[in-house]
Amino acid sequence: MDLGFKGKVALVTGAGSQIGFGKAISLLLAKEGCDAVAVTDINLDDAKLTAEEVKALGCKSIAMKADVTNRDEVQEMVKQVIAEYGKIDILANVAGAVIGYGPLEQQDEETWDKNIRLNLYGTMFITQAVLPHMKKQNYGSIVNIGSGSSHMYSHGVNMYAMSKAGVDLFTKQMAWVEAKTGIRINCVAPGPSPTNFIKAPDKQAIMEMQLTTVPMAKATTPEDIACATAFFASDISGDITGQVLHVSGGAVM
Ligand SMILES: NC(=O)c1ccc[n+]([C@@H]2O[C@H](COP(=O)([O-])OP(=O)(O)OC[C@H]3O[C@@H](n4cnc5c(N)ncnc54)[C@H](O)[C@@H]3O)[C@@H](O)[C@H]2O)c1
Repeated sequence: MDLGFKGKVALVTGAGSQIGFGKAISLLLAKEGCDAVAVTDINLDDAKLTAEEVKALGCKSIAMKADVTNRDEVQEMVKQVIAEYGKIDILANVAGAVIGYGPLEQQDEETWDKNIRLNLYGTMFITQAVLPHMKKQNYGSIVNIGSGSSHMYSHGVNMYAMSKAGVDLFTKQMAWVEAKTGIRINCVAPGPSPTNFIKAPDKQAIMEMQLTTVPMAKATTPEDIACATAFFASDISGDITGQVLHVSGGAVM
């Protein structure tokens, strides 16, 4: 099936992690025919590695450093993409992380702020910077990466999950507001996946514990998330906006 990516320019955030969702999304968009996939991350060296792999697939790419929690850096980064390629058709908002964990009594306000700023504000800052360019062309597809954790209450009281619930709502609000402008906004909500997302030394044990909550008893792969993102990014999903698709082996039904 032709996903219609010929001539399209994509921007992927959080694309530096060499085992993460952002890189898998960048490579799939390149393989499926995008003209250019611009990649960004707080870690420029890692983003450069991803850009090299994108280019090896015959697709144009630039790597840019931007901390998504910093509005000015985000604005500059988006300006750079426009200067290089003239437009952005597809935006994948992938950068994110879980910051701090534990019983409510041990949580502090600073950790709450960091989770909200990274996962919710980060998604909003990039969208805010890209939106005027999509509006000019009356076309765009934005795919936010949410999380199944906002529906998995066994994870406890967790500001990360609340920030991702905010991403779900932001997706729907944006989709409604932009519905007549040719811009669609959807969200892919992954299940547990052994990327760099889990930083604890007992990563394997944490994954095994998380998989007990997954009916298909398998980890979500970066390729699973890349396929769902490509679906939303493509015009084959042209009648779909404001949706949150859980890609998590049935963990959220
Ligand atoms: N892996 C999972 O189990 C899982 C489950 C549900 C949701 N998610 C979400 O998927 C997304 C991708 O995570 P992943 O699993 O690929 O993890 P990852 O840690 O492998 O990749 C995340 C990337 O985001 C970048 N990043 C972090 N903070 C940033 C900032 N302030 N500015 C710019 N870039 C920043 C990191 O450098 C990294 O390259 C995240 O939004 C995460 O919340 C992951």
